[in-house]
Amino acid sequence: MDRTVLLLSVLSVLRPAVVALDNGLALKPTMGWLHWERFMCNTDCVNDPDNCISERLYMQMADVMVKEGWKEAGYEYVCIDDCWPSHQRDAQGRLQADPDRFPGGIKKLADYVHSKGLKLGIYADVGVNTCAKYPGSLGHYETDAQTFADWDVDLLKFDGCFLDWTSLGEGYINMSKALNKTGKSILYSCEWPLYEWAYQKPNYTAIRETCNHWRNSEDVFDSWNSIRSILDWTAKHQDIIVPSAGPGGWNDPDMLVIGNFGLSHDQQESQMALWAIMAAPLFMSNDLRGICPRSKALLQNKHVIEINQDPLGKQGYRTAAMNSFEVWERIMSNNSLAVAVLNLQDIGGPRKFPIVIIPSWKICDPRCTVTQILPQYKEFGVQNVQSDIVFSVNPTGTALLKITAINSRFKPSHKLFWKNESIRRDQTNTL
Ligand SMILES: *[C@@H]1O[C@H](CO)[C@@H](O)[C@H](O)[C@H]1NC(C)=O
Ligand SMILES: *[C@@H]1O[C@H](CO)[C@@H](O)[C@H](O)[C@H]1NC(C)=O
Ligand SMILES: *[C@@H]1O[C@H](CO)[C@@H](O)[C@H](O)[C@H]1NC(C)=O
Ligand SMILES: *[C@@H]1O[C@H](CO)[C@@H](O)[C@H](O)[C@H]1NC(C)=O
Ligand SMILES: *[C@@H]1O[C@H](CO)[C@@H](O)[C@H](O)[C@H]1NC(C)=O
Repeated sequence: MDRTVLLLSVLSVLRPAVVALDNGLALKPTMGWLHWERFMCNTDCVNDPDNCISERLYMQMADVMVKEGWKEAGYEYVCIDDCWPSHQRDAQGRLQADPDRFPGGIKKLADYVHSKGLKLGIYADVGVNTCAKYPGSLGHYETDAQTFADWDVDLLKFDGCFLDWTSLGEGYINMSKALNKTGKSILYSCEWPLYEWAYQKPNYTAIRETCNHWRNSEDVFDSWNSIRSILDWTAKHQDIIVPSAGPGGWNDPDMLVIGNFGLSHDQQESQMALWAIMAAPLFMSNDLRGICPRSKALLQNKHVIEINQDPLGKQGYRTAAMNSFEVWERIMSNNSLAVAVLNLQDIGGPRKFPIVIIPSWKICDPRCTVTQILPQYKEFGVQNVQSDIVFSVNPTGTALLKITAINSRFKPSHKLFWKNESIRRDQTNTL
């Protein structure tokens, strides 16, 4: 084999499974803040000025993001969701912001957010109306794309309400082309597969060519049930969706609800750990102006963020499920693996998990280093296949580990060599 052929074959292993949208964006999962889960469609600025959907909300969020370490931690996009526009288009047929709640208009808001070194995201819908019945973009894709570009908006979340499902693909592709035509790179966040799954298996090759990330499953709520059901959906469809993720395009399991009301701290750690394993866009939907310090530290945990942002861009899988434990693993650069061990038992106390039963543990032959990232940072140093590390996982909590192979014969492969290996029964009996 000559040099060129060898190089090409190496490149073909590294190349993502399918071609990504070529707008130069989302080479790593997008990080930012999005209003929906926490602030929903609150338009009552008379009685609830601090929490209504208004320019003030995004300006305050941008201020806090700069002042309190969020920007430094990597959170970059301040994103508007539904309920920002006026119910009428302007005389030229363009969308316009609600004049009472956005007196300065979106362009001014974008300028403000940019002055803080952050980026602004906006929301629209592929159909006749948005999900909350504001004007949709159907029949106006080029106008709306140009309007967003003129306003200097950096990201578009494009919802999928009020369109016949057979036109979904066409609509999302047409908008993608319209965005490209503006000449401004605008990150394109889609909900195409979410709305198509009810009828048929979506075409992920086409989706990855069209969008920078895409929602697959239901909206996240502020509850452990919701987090669990998103994880279950993901594991059940992982063979279909995981190969489509990579630099330029990601599966989007929806917002982080960490720092709100519904999750215990262990459950918040589980969401953070699993969103890192899933290479998920990290959009917080919470109130950064008054977040509890523990949630803040978790959301800004640089070791977890490093896993989420790993440059190889391979999404992790669920690799084992037994005795109410689940193991999820993600191949990372530098012969490393991230491993999340989730204790789904929601009764009793912490349960023990011997590290040697992690399905890909053989990468520790002959040696590896092990670092626990969550719940506490702890370096276990060099280990081998006989390691006697046993860690303890709280009910509904997660232990997140990083394992780096040293001269292993079993290098973490780009083909997820461990996929669905069964764990020996005699090993799990000891749990
Ligand atoms: C538009 O698409 C072309 C071809 O895929 C790409 O080279 C170009 O960078 C895109 N431009 C923008 C602004 O996304
Ligand atoms: C997408 O664009 C094509 C070509 O212009 C057009 O025929 C089709 O109706 C459009 N579909 C939607 C949903 O906008
Ligand atoms: C999926 O989309 C790709 C790219 O647009 C296309 O080449 C392929 O034929 C489609 N597959 C199916 C089954 O429609
Ligand atoms: C592994 O594959 C088998 C057979 O295809 C299936 O029954 C089992 O549920 C899978 N296990 C996991 C953990 O996905
Ligand atoms: C991989 O290892 C090299 C050399 O130690 C280091 O410079 C680089 O930052 C590592 N990359 C990641 C993503 O950890």
